Amino acid sequence: MTNETTHRPIEFPHRHLLGIEGLQPPDINMLLDLGEEAVEVSRREDKQKGVLRGRTQINLFFEASTRTQSSFELAGKRLGADVMNMAVSTSSVKKGETLIDTAATLNAMRPDLLVVRHSSAGAVQLLARKVGCAVVNAGDGTHEHPTQALLDALTIRRHKGALGGLTVAICGDIRHSRVARSNIILLSTMGARIRVIAPSTLMPSGIHNMGVEVFTDMKKGLQGVDVVMMLRLQRERMSGAFVPSVREYFKYHGLDSEKLAYAKPDALVMHPGPMNRGVEISAEVADGAQSVIREQVEMGVAIRMAVLEALAAQLPKWKDVP
Ligand code: CP
Repeated sequence: MTNETTHRPIEFPHRHLLGIEGLQPPDINMLLDLGEEAVEVSRREDKQKGVLRGRTQINLFFEASTRTQSSFELAGKRLGADVMNMAVSTSSVKKGETLIDTAATLNAMRPDLLVVRHSSAGAVQLLARKVGCAVVNAGDGTHEHPTQALLDALTIRRHKGALGGLTVAICGDIRHSRVARSNIILLSTMGARIRVIAPSTLMPSGIHNMGVEVFTDMKKGLQGVDVVMMLRLQRERMSGAFVPSVREYFKYHGLDSEKLAYAKPDALVMHPGPMNRGVEISAEVADGAQSVIREQVEMGVAIRMAVLEALAAQLPKWKDVP
């Protein structure tokens, strides 16, 4: 039996995980392989793999989260770390403390890993420059959500065997979605073809420069795809009305059985959550045979274990680097 409390060599030439941008295919494959091992650990009766024993992980979420925060907490605990969740709503941030002062305060407590979600794009990168530990971006504004794209990739790979050569449709509020951005970068890096499908009001400017095929019609865009990834309307990031009405949005852009029939018969249906049934997806499709939405949640814990283990294994390398 291997001693799971010691690090084996893990090749990951990055101090932080701030985005998918900058990762190479070997980095992504390594994290997916490590995630695959974490699935096995998480399915055992004894779910402990002590590679983070003695390490301290702080989760700092300035924005609401169910899946990401709880899975990072479970992931750290399964790896043996001391995990602390900062309750931002009752912290001194509410008394006007700046992001940088909060970061400096937490840094003085000598964490090894800091997991951060923030509503502003770029905030996590800024914070990473002010601390001495490894930082993981758990979602920053409309910029990136790298662990979501990695868990989506792990889910797809487990069903389809590989990512290269697949056609993936990402549908819905592309404009406000960090999940879409991270998935577009990851899937194209790995050789998948990507279609984005949304009303033109929900397409970001510059989408034509992202190496994707752009559709406004669901039935045309879904023809023959291997994977359908649905996104919710992100009202918290909208200033003004982007769709005429929820009813009309569901009629033309919500995924129901009729529209799903245009995809391949074995197409996967995915959603990062939180899901709004009857808005971007019907309950029938969300709970149907092609849906892997619950499996995405399981892969979320596994991929976060992989990311934490990979970054922790690099900590000695960065020890003396300011
Ligand atoms: N997919 C996702 O990031 O979900 P939460 O907002 O619940 O973390």
